[in-house]
Amino acid sequence: MVVSVAATGPGADAEPVRSTFFASRYVCNALPRIIRAPPPPPPPHETEPASVPHSRGHAAAMVLSHASSSRDDAIASTFASRYVREQLPRYRMPERSIPREAAYQIINDELMLDGNPRLNLASFVTTWMEPECDKLIMDSINKNYVDMDEYPVTTELQNRCVNMIAHLFNAPIQEDETAIGVGTVGSSEAIMLAGLAFKRKWQNKRKEQGKPCDKPNIVTGANVQVCWEKFARYFEVELKEVKLSEGYYVMDPEKAIEMVDENTICVAAILGSTLTGEFEDVKKLNDLLVEKNKETGWDVPIHVDAASGGFIAPFLYPELEWDFRLPLVKSINVSGHKYGLVYAGVGWVIWRSKEDLPEELIFHINYLGTDQPTFTLNFSKGSSQIIAQYYQLIRLGFEGYKSIMENCMENTSILREGLTATDRFEIVSKNSGVPLVAFSLKDSSAFTVFDVSDNLRRFGWIVPAYTMPPNAEHVAVLRVVVREDFSRSLAERLVSDIVKVLHELDARAAHAVKVASVAVAQSDDGVVAGKSVMEIQREIATRWRKAVDKKKTGPC
Ligand SMILES: Cc1ncc(COP(=O)(O)O)c(C=O)c1O
Repeated sequence: MVVSVAATGPGADAEPVRSTFFASRYVCNALPRIIRAPPPPPPPHETEPASVPHSRGHAAAMVLSHASSSRDDAIASTFASRYVREQLPRYRMPERSIPREAAYQIINDELMLDGNPRLNLASFVTTWMEPECDKLIMDSINKNYVDMDEYPVTTELQNRCVNMIAHLFNAPIQEDETAIGVGTVGSSEAIMLAGLAFKRKWQNKRKEQGKPCDKPNIVTGANVQVCWEKFARYFEVELKEVKLSEGYYVMDPEKAIEMVDENTICVAAILGSTLTGEFEDVKKLNDLLVEKNKETGWDVPIHVDAASGGFIAPFLYPELEWDFRLPLVKSINVSGHKYGLVYAGVGWVIWRSKEDLPEELIFHINYLGTDQPTFTLNFSKGSSQIIAQYYQLIRLGFEGYKSIMENCMENTSILREGLTATDRFEIVSKNSGVPLVAFSLKDSSAFTVFDVSDNLRRFGWIVPAYTMPPNAEHVAVLRVVVREDFSRSLAERLVSDIVKVLHELDARAAHAVKVASVAVAQSDDGVVAGKSVMEIQREIATRWRKAVDKKKTGPC
């Protein structure tokens, strides 16, 4: 048998280290050329009991006593081992290794307490893919995307995705011309890159004209996703937000145009507002901006944040003009991991033409082999999501995406109708746009949407509740995103669970009023005894409201 370095160190024969393939002595030493009989097992008294406390340098502390014989190996169970009896490390890396089975079990057990992703109706992000694609993802999990020379096929697949998405967005390119775009970690990174390109182009132009270029701004609706606020803060661009109003939850193009000035690097329109799923009117914005640019001599462009809508509009609303068909639309982002139907970790940004992406933002590295152009915020990243995106594009094709989006819309209708039938909710979202239902309570005097959200958690559902941005903060809504894997039966089930929650909350509110009435009636200060049940109820509702007002489980 091989004698290894590890065999002389602390815990040399302990199961944990032995079972970790690349840490084991078997791969650290030359393989034996002559087969010899293995040494006999140590006598039982030489092993330590499992409960011996361990510390650095205590040679036998990690030894699992029951693992010392092959018979005991067979009965040793993770749940009988000390690994699950000891407190888990939270702040410092543990001194000693543990067996992989134990590590898996311990982590898996904790993760059971996470929500179920399929029931997470807060997120647009894909939670189900076909097993064949899961396999491709696992097969490429060890490929660093940035090693383009080493993984040229992966690079080629990303380029094909860029071309396909650019064509889907009607980029003005020939059938076999390469499109300008890049795969990103998500729409947030895509938006940072698009924003940087706009900023640099604007700065270059201002410098050429001998004008100041230190106060760039972007005009958006107040409904923009947080990534725009991040971009503005991280890259020092002022965000000029068009305020919303009750009943109008997207950017008003006319108000946006009023806010445009010579320092505006772009106007950002959203195809699929995070809050209500509504598509902003990009065509109207384009037409108004063309006029304004003509009048002023500026050339303010448009970026479309199609994080959710980019993989919906081409299939469900092919006539809708929101993309590169409009001359001022210079770049578009889309989340591959939303309706692009890939698990979290992929987004795309496509530019109209080469001229819209300043060359100086592209870095060229050659130390990995050939010349590699990169325009991303980070360097290394996984390849799996890019490969998975390519899988979805060729596996589903236009036909498959269309059919999935239609199904999502049908399930959205089922949900909307079910909620409307309760007569308790106002539907805030529109019937078109991203398949989601945003709804508010018609009467929030006894409980709020936050209570409904909290109580739905008991059934496993994760439904976010949030207040609208300025100037519609007084409107609080619940939002259910309908993804591919949210089937009709789940939609029906959700409605019935919402009805149960409403009944429970009604009963609880009625009970609270009754208890308060008794207390008031029994009070002997004589002041509040005369209050009507209605007055007491209002007081209770006010107190509840105060308690929940601070609570905002925002959308993502
Ligand atoms: C309109 C919009 N833009 C950008 C984002 C950020 O997307 P990602 O999560 O892909 O970074 C979101 C996320 O929900 C969104 O809804």
